[in-house]
Amino acid sequence: CGIVGIIGKDNSRDVLLNGLKKLEYRGYDSAGIYVNDQNGHDSLVKTQGRIADLEAKLTPAVQGEMGIGHTRWATHGEPSDINAHPHVSADGRFYLVHNGVINNYAQLRDQYLQGVQLVSQTDTEVVVQLIAYFAKTDQLSGREAFRKTLTLLDGSYAFLLVDRTEPDKLFVAKNKSPLLVGVGDGFNVVCSDAMAMLDQTKDFIELHDGEMVTITQDKINIETIAGKAVQRAPYHVDMSVSDTEKGPYPFYMLKEINEQPTVMRRLAQTYLDEKGQPQIAPELLAALKQADRLYILAAGTSYHAGLVAKSMFEKLAQLPTEVSLASEFGYNTPLLAKKPFFLFLSQSGETADSRQVLVKVKQWGYPSLTMTNVPGSTLSREATYTLLLKAGPEIAVASTKAYTAQIALQAILAKALGETRQLVTAQKFDIRKQLGLVANGMQTLIDEHHRFDQLAKTYLGTTSNAFYIGRGYDYPVSLEAALKLKEISYVQAEGFAGAELKHGTISLIEKGTPVIAIITDKRVASHTRSNVQEVRARGAHVLTIAMHAVAQQSDQVVLADVNPLLSALLSVVPAQLLAYYTSLNRGYDVDKPRNLAKAVTVE
Ligand code: G6P
Repeated sequence: CGIVGIIGKDNSRDVLLNGLKKLEYRGYDSAGIYVNDQNGHDSLVKTQGRIADLEAKLTPAVQGEMGIGHTRWATHGEPSDINAHPHVSADGRFYLVHNGVINNYAQLRDQYLQGVQLVSQTDTEVVVQLIAYFAKTDQLSGREAFRKTLTLLDGSYAFLLVDRTEPDKLFVAKNKSPLLVGVGDGFNVVCSDAMAMLDQTKDFIELHDGEMVTITQDKINIETIAGKAVQRAPYHVDMSVSDTEKGPYPFYMLKEINEQPTVMRRLAQTYLDEKGQPQIAPELLAALKQADRLYILAAGTSYHAGLVAKSMFEKLAQLPTEVSLASEFGYNTPLLAKKPFFLFLSQSGETADSRQVLVKVKQWGYPSLTMTNVPGSTLSREATYTLLLKAGPEIAVASTKAYTAQIALQAILAKALGETRQLVTAQKFDIRKQLGLVANGMQTLIDEHHRFDQLAKTYLGTTSNAFYIGRGYDYPVSLEAALKLKEISYVQAEGFAGAELKHGTISLIEKGTPVIAIITDKRVASHTRSNVQEVRARGAHVLTIAMHAVAQQSDQVVLADVNPLLSALLSVVPAQLLAYYTSLNRGYDVDKPRNLAKAVTVE
């Protein structure tokens, strides 16, 4: 979910709407705003649907000097007008927006709110009713009722609260879910992500778990829930509004696919010197050098980037590497090596599934690195080290340039570590040249993008299922390729290890089933080509994405020749474009696929 708030500007409604549009990637099944003109006039408008639906519902009278807004990704309660935020207490005094999940809401409801008629199915409404309940029964100020409520909650939250009796203040609290306070001149703002308020300010104060804040138009008062005052200076965000715009592209996803060659070159410029030697902080390399095992933890697309990188760390740096879904690793932690090092891959730096593991890693006292695209994000702040992906804001829900940036940056890190260990494979790996070849190879594919529109129509036109197959280095890419297709075109796509076909999956092949074979790994190319024959013999409609052209009856996409460790950087691009055009041709909202959100801050 995304949260925005402002105090001290008479166009607060427009600031909130604009901010919510920038946060729509965090959830978009319903939205709402509350504004108050601080003279007794206020309005609450909420709706199921997108920010555009909310905008259509606003009348000119909805204006104020302060306000709060929310765009939702449903956890408790279906998307509906009633379950949309802000939620209001029964006495009409408190308005609350919330990102997160309150685990003990049912118990609190039963204990304190027997006499209160709840109107929604949300955990958030329970919280706002509790605040009103304590304000009334314990005769507490709004702030103290909020504080008392916070002490009772078990769960994750970023809260933004308005007390109608004190409309010159906003109340804020945070635990596990991200929230920032933006510092303005004569006004202040609150947001889940700095991107939402970049047109208002570039100076933000990060909040820590267990803190609450009282904000007026010229003061920001941070304290712990226990009441201890906190002083924290703002940091400056180095990003412009135009970085977050679509420009001439119909969808962010196409823009972000097209930016990949630039991102490859930028990573080379940022992390390599003129001789192509990696420039990585010596302390980070020293810590990695100590390690006897690398644990890579991530979710979704970032997990797939970790799977690709395993071979790099093992081959270039001789560091045994395990890649796990962060969620499962957390629930079922394996027996750890003696000197483990943890690498968290996360585009957003906010994924709760990954964070729950980082919290444990810190308790165990082991070193950690976060590779993320978002400076100042939670995982970046909390890990021992951070490396930034420098990919520029990624806004489409389906991740593209962050995935390729994660692979390239891990290659640089693996090379750097191998060099410190004086390993010949690392010394011989000319990463600068290779990233240049990758950037050019990506550009060639991007320049041919209309071809992928055609291939998408031919192979994936109206199908309801599809398979990607690959072996060796091509197997992890086939997982990512299938995920892209599932996410945005709703085709039931699966990625399979080529050899496994005969052990079960081949039973799914029928006449016309689309099978896309990725064949870049020379060691096993001939085996995958045999798979192609096997599925074709059973009626499959086969497209190949290969490093080398061969004489064959069906379409093939031929990739530039790069080091096999980096071939995923090229083979994924056709898959991204095929997914993009399949979604587009089916008339879907490519950037905002149903049911998904870009940054998922609940476990
Ligand atoms: C969400 C997004 C995915 C993303 C995953 C991990 O589910 O929809 O696209 O891969 O989170 O996100 P992260 O920011 O940690 O890389």
